[in-house]
Amino acid sequence: MKSRLLMTLACATFALPALADDVTYRKDIQPLIKAQCSECHGSDSPTLAEFLLDQEKYKKDKLGPRLDSYADLLQLIGWPDTGAFMRRLDDGSSTADKKPGNMYKELGSDDAERAANLKRIKAWLGEGAWNLNRWKARGDVPAITKEQLDKLQLKY
Ligand code: HEC
Repeated sequence: MKSRLLMTLACATFALPALADDVTYRKDIQPLIKAQCSECHGSDSPTLAEFLLDQEKYKKDKLGPRLDSYADLLQLIGWPDTGAFMRRLDDGSSTADKKPGNMYKELGSDDAERAANLKRIKAWLGEGAWNLNRWKARGDVPAITKEQLDKLQLKY
């Protein structure tokens, strides 16, 4: 029990110094995606454009769009699938229904790991850049603004 608490504290402390400048795609994000997402978003998966041509087929095969390169990943952050990455990974603190996105659970095997990985991803996006808005407004979700997009850092 005590060692578990210490572990949790150690993880929490470890996750603290996540400033955008320190976090890079090559050092932090690529390995994270490889470890947590590549089973279904790796090199066997379609590109986003291919995925959108036949989503139902790929979903049946448990494949999402590939996220295994910087270029592929940015399409689900900036354009054309603006905010998809954020909507799917949010822990429920920014979603309209306060439920986590359906890929949040893939961020780790327990709450501490998921929280630490989400924190690192948010730091990589940039301060204040975590935004679930879409390119075009849909339902209650407004369109993203240039000011909001300007916050993205996404250091390679
Ligand atoms: C067990 C398989 C699996 C794992 C692991 C997984 N995903 Fe997914 N993901 C899918 C499938 C299948 C879809 C398409 C169905 C859907 O939209 O939910 C999807 C959809 C997505 C989408 C939306 C794609 C779109 O075009 O709208 C994003 C973003 C995403 N996943 C991110 C991730 C991230 C990031 C990780 C790792 C932290 C991850 N996923 C881990 C299977 C997985």
